[in-house]
Amino acid sequence: MPQTTRAKRAYVETYGCQMNVSDGELMEGVLAARGYEIVGCPEDADVVLINTCAIREHAESRVLGRVSQLNGLKRERPDMLIGVTGCMAQRMGDSLLERAPYVDLVMGPDGYRSLPDALGQLQKEARPRKRKQLAVLELESSENYQGLEQLRAEGPSAWVPIQRGCDHRCSFCIVPYVRGPEKNRTPELVLAEIQGLAAQGVTEVTLLGQTVNSYRHGDVDFPRLLRSVARVDGIRRVRYTSPHPNDVTPELVEVMAEEPSVCEQLHLPAQSGSNRTLKRMLRRYTVEELLQKVALVREAIPDIAISTDIIVAFPGETGAEFHETLDLMRTVRFDEAYTYKYSPREGTPATRMPPEDFLSPEEAQARLAELIEVSRGIQAEINRSEVGRVEEVLIEKGGREAGQVLGRTRRNKVVVFDGDISRVGEYTRVVLERTTGATFAGTEALAVRAAVQA
Ligand code: 5AD
Repeated sequence: MPQTTRAKRAYVETYGCQMNVSDGELMEGVLAARGYEIVGCPEDADVVLINTCAIREHAESRVLGRVSQLNGLKRERPDMLIGVTGCMAQRMGDSLLERAPYVDLVMGPDGYRSLPDALGQLQKEARPRKRKQLAVLELESSENYQGLEQLRAEGPSAWVPIQRGCDHRCSFCIVPYVRGPEKNRTPELVLAEIQGLAAQGVTEVTLLGQTVNSYRHGDVDFPRLLRSVARVDGIRRVRYTSPHPNDVTPELVEVMAEEPSVCEQLHLPAQSGSNRTLKRMLRRYTVEELLQKVALVREAIPDIAISTDIIVAFPGETGAEFHETLDLMRTVRFDEAYTYKYSPREGTPATRMPPEDFLSPEEAQARLAELIEVSRGIQAEINRSEVGRVEEVLIEKGGREAGQVLGRTRRNKVVVFDGDISRVGEYTRVVLERTTGATFAGTEALAVRAAVQA
């Protein structure tokens, strides 16, 4: 009897930033286009891909734990392939293959076009013990994956990468080394993609890039691209991440203020509130300049929600400098802060600072705890002051409890309220009634009106 070959099944598990989530969708798209069935768990898969992050050591140790766990599965099914992709794969390369001999493939962020071929090559060797490990680690100065389709989860929101790589050299950061130089996609293709998404019912897009607002292609810079995206029929909400403060220009702020679909939200990674530390981080702005950007944005968009990233215990950061960071938090009053302890990344300039400059783990932890306390306190104060507002919410998914849904306001605040999961994708108005400090619980304005009338 002729054997029917069933489609190979692939499972992609993603760690890290939104760009990685988007890369995961790209890998799924590339594989689906070559006949793979994409499945939802490793147990169902012939190929398991772990799409990784290298930004901090913690992100990498989690992945090492996860692949060794997957090796348990592979022992039962030796023909299963395990691939490690993305930034950590790029950073560790062959040393990862040595450390985890059960990993069949390491592939960096520029290799995904050849993913099906690489897997095909590995599958040719039917005897698992004879299989040779494969490394695809070239960084391509032109690879921006133009022309390839992502496989996106159905829903009202989509990530749209417009740029890959980074031309900055912040002294703590591994990204330029694992993602290569900045590569921007053409505005025509970005717009065509978003028009296509809108035709499929997507109403919210988030433009993605490592320093997304330094985007430029020919004479189209980021403000211009943002304006065109904002005017695509059917798109009701536009966000972007992650910008560099230096490219938050008056032109950009003008577009944000003028285009109704651009949300009142800005992520503005400050990293530190100390000029000396900022200089040693090679961030190329001062605290005063950063505050000017905040003032510029708030003047044009008074209601804007601003979030940030902060690193504590950068090598050489003094106690006084750390307090300057706390001062910055209190001055700006960010709606949300993502806070990190400095994590040395091999090959980055900061690792070459004098050994005595490195803070002890205990000191770093104490600074982080203090920063979190300050930033959460401010966040809770801001959010408590917003209770009572009525906000437009896009319903994104079901809540933790049955009969509840979770959505986001234009200012990117999460709200939970009663509603049926079938309503994902709808826009509605919600009264913010309570806050945990970080998120809100509310009631739909319609429901409130009905109750009053009854
Ligand atoms: N250590 C700690 N945090 C880091 N980040 C980037 N590199 C490091 C590092 N080596 C943080 C920055 C950045 C965010 C995505 O991760 O705050 O904005």
